[in-house]
Amino acid sequence: MKKFYWGVSTSSAQVEGAHDQDGKGETIWDYYSKRGAIYNGEDCFTTCDCYNRTAEDIELMKKLGVNAYRFSLAWARMMPKGYGEINQKGIDFYSKFVDDLLAAGIEPFVTVYHWDMPLPLFEQGGFSNRDIIYKMEDYASLVGKTLGDRVKYFAIFNEPECVVDFMYRHPIHDGVELPRSRQETFEAMHNILLCNGLATRSLRAAASSDVKVGIVSATDVCVPNTPKDVEAARIATFTPREDLLFDNAGFLDPICFGRHYEPLIKKFELDTSFIKEGDMEIIKCNPDFIGSNIYTGTTVEFDQNKNVVKSKVSPNSAYASNLRRFVPESVYYGPKFLSERYNLPVYITENGVALSETLDKDGNMNDDSRVEYIRTYLEQVDKARKDGVDLNGYFYWSMFDNFEWKAGFWPRFGIIHVDYDTFKRTPKKSFYKYQEYIKQYKTELD
Ligand code: BGC
Repeated sequence: MKKFYWGVSTSSAQVEGAHDQDGKGETIWDYYSKRGAIYNGEDCFTTCDCYNRTAEDIELMKKLGVNAYRFSLAWARMMPKGYGEINQKGIDFYSKFVDDLLAAGIEPFVTVYHWDMPLPLFEQGGFSNRDIIYKMEDYASLVGKTLGDRVKYFAIFNEPECVVDFMYRHPIHDGVELPRSRQETFEAMHNILLCNGLATRSLRAAASSDVKVGIVSATDVCVPNTPKDVEAARIATFTPREDLLFDNAGFLDPICFGRHYEPLIKKFELDTSFIKEGDMEIIKCNPDFIGSNIYTGTTVEFDQNKNVVKSKVSPNSAYASNLRRFVPESVYYGPKFLSERYNLPVYITENGVALSETLDKDGNMNDDSRVEYIRTYLEQVDKARKDGVDLNGYFYWSMFDNFEWKAGFWPRFGIIHVDYDTFKRTPKKSFYKYQEYIKQYKTELD
């Protein structure tokens, strides 16, 4: 089997804290926090304080036995306004962090944009203002120049599908901004694609070593009910969704093939006349890999008339979680369908489950449902590798309990419990089990 990365995942706004330390500028999540848009009036200002605890956290990664760590850069730490002035302290922070990870034998997987837009860019219209594409191009060039000598794997966007949804279609700071029409959302999506195209190129050009630049998608996987339904699952996985503007091909098709996904344009009667000459050439940027975030899936089958329909399956209530349903086959079929369609290596860049949990009286966390989730999903990861699916890594989401965006701190996704007052880290049972599974599945190459 090929080399495989076993990792854990986080993102800057969710774990770093230190929201105004060392020259970092304000982000939209600082702004939403100040406006009281987060559940229970919570904020992202300190969260896990990872910014000040890198040594301790790398020790935990070593103990866990991972050979990769996926994290994101806070744009506003490197460029406080999102453009113009550069903040050397922010750059030094990430540069040292990368050195420390590499010294520990841990491969950094760096996300360039995981949702924390610098506030001034948001005030100028964010992704609905085409100007942002050049600002992102500059930012990615700075990233390439400062980290591209040591970091091999970069993803420009995390889940652009969710970005258009929470910023435009269903804005999270309800009442402040109104939901945009599908057409307006599509135009913002087009700008995101342009950002991605320019940023991919500028990062590659600025890096002094051979970097791999990809994108991380939110994959809405359909799985077959019986072996006869594999084609049904494939069709459904690439069919536009009812209620959302995006689907699995909405971003990836333009990036890989240089054209918007026709079924999406037709279904929502989108007007493409605003697209400028040359745009699709910029957008087609030949990513080196696809990162796929998969949490669950929908089971489908063919009915008697060969129509694809949802299967009647009851969610496994023994494992039902607060947020997600357990469908382990999703990490088998998601990478399979994506790598077949795009002919690219796939990494599962996020997979995990949120539970609302507390430590027991002895300070232990027996998160048995999460252990079962990881066990059953990793069985499918192993099966995919053995069946020759071009799957090259698995990252559990998340290393820590953290700031779950608008939902604040109540959903806990971590394999490490965090006390948000003292920042004390307590590995849960799932931490030790994941450690065991990595040993079990690791090959000599990994
Ligand atoms: C996002 C993460 C988020 C996770 C759990 C993904 O959509 O990339 O930032 O915390 O799901 O909801």
